Amino acid sequence: MVTCRGPASARRGSALAQLEVLSGDPAVLLEGDRIAWVGPRKEAPRSAGTTVEVRGVLFPGFVDCHTHGIFGAPRLDDHERRALGEDYKAIAAAGGGILQSVRDVRARSEDQLAALARERLTTLLWHGSTTIEVKSGYGLATDAELKQLRAVQRAARDVPATLVPTFLGAHEVPPEYRGRRAEYVRLVCEEMLPAVAGERLARACDVFCEPGVFDVADARTILAAARRLGLDGKLHADELEGSGGAELAVELGARSADHLAAVSPAGIAALAASETVAVLLPATMTFLGRPRQAPARRLIEAGAAVALATDFNPGSSPTISLPLVMALGVGQLGLRHAEAVLAVTVNAAAALGLAADRGQIAAGFRADLVALSVSDWREAAYWMGANVVTDVWTGGSACPSPVARVSLGFNVEA
Ligand code: NIG
Ligand code: FE
Repeated sequence: MVTCRGPASARRGSALAQLEVLSGDPAVLLEGDRIAWVGPRKEAPRSAGTTVEVRGVLFPGFVDCHTHGIFGAPRLDDHERRALGEDYKAIAAAGGGILQSVRDVRARSEDQLAALARERLTTLLWHGSTTIEVKSGYGLATDAELKQLRAVQRAARDVPATLVPTFLGAHEVPPEYRGRRAEYVRLVCEEMLPAVAGERLARACDVFCEPGVFDVADARTILAAARRLGLDGKLHADELEGSGGAELAVELGARSADHLAAVSPAGIAALAASETVAVLLPATMTFLGRPRQAPARRLIEAGAAVALATDFNPGSSPTISLPLVMALGVGQLGLRHAEAVLAVTVNAAAALGLAADRGQIAAGFRADLVALSVSDWREAAYWMGANVVTDVWTGGSACPSPVARVSLGFNVEA
């Protein structure tokens, strides 16, 4: 059993490689939705409840702290154009990219989006993610952003994972505001954010801070407005070209700065001296075929809190598997297996402000557990692309395994 037990806060430096693994015959006692006790089975307190035997290795449920899990169709044309040598930003500038998903999402009903999200997020759950952050950002108009977030709320009733919604109205400038970015920023701050906060549709606000999209000043304005409404800050920072996003995330006390493939030395130093979690998304750079990954080792050695996530989205990272991302974390980012495990549990929980509640198999924590059919815990970050998850529990209850093979939406016609 991999417990990840320790302080209820993000791990850094050498502590990120210190993973508690109980071997022999460990047991965990659940009471209601909480973990009541963990230790050797022969020392377990008597309990009136039922006993479940698990073969393999038990982990805390994984936390996917960065997804764009609510969207319509896949973006196969973008994928093909990149294979032919066009790059992500050029495709976006030519009307593909995020704006293609925006046209698609605007045309769909809330019902349809909720149904697609239900299927897809169930698939994430069955790859081990028991807590999943989900961003809006394919609406880019007040009604369409609210529709996406309401669809997340509806999907949350049917998927036994915890869905943590984030408002990403500033994901791109929509076509009707082309050349009028400042006006769009005003719309985000004065209309969208109050509506989202008023309906309690999101816990955090994120901005795509990137040259050619939203600049540091826009991001500062939007995240300051979000904070006044009680929302946490998150930032797509220094993804493709560096622009001081990491430094801004720290300055604003954001929960996380995400991507960071182009972070500067000053950004690394700022993150290291802060509580802001550096969320790395190696599947994105791999899928986009970009040569540069985030400098994970330099971040860890400087003392930054590093987490991993899928970035699940139709444009740059159509993967539902945190175990795949852990394998990329080891192979592409140079993480140790123990670091990869803590990066999708304790530190990913911290990136959502949930480090005191989940990410550990420890007394008092939420009883979210995942069993993997492996004999060495390091295999969690090894079998690239295979799903070795056999059982999942959330809030103390076994999740019913999906009736049919889970799907990513065969029928995506709008
Ligand atoms: O994190 N960079 C912005 N957002 C996503 C991509 C979204 C998309 O291409 O649809 C990302 O990579
Ligand atoms: Fe993203």
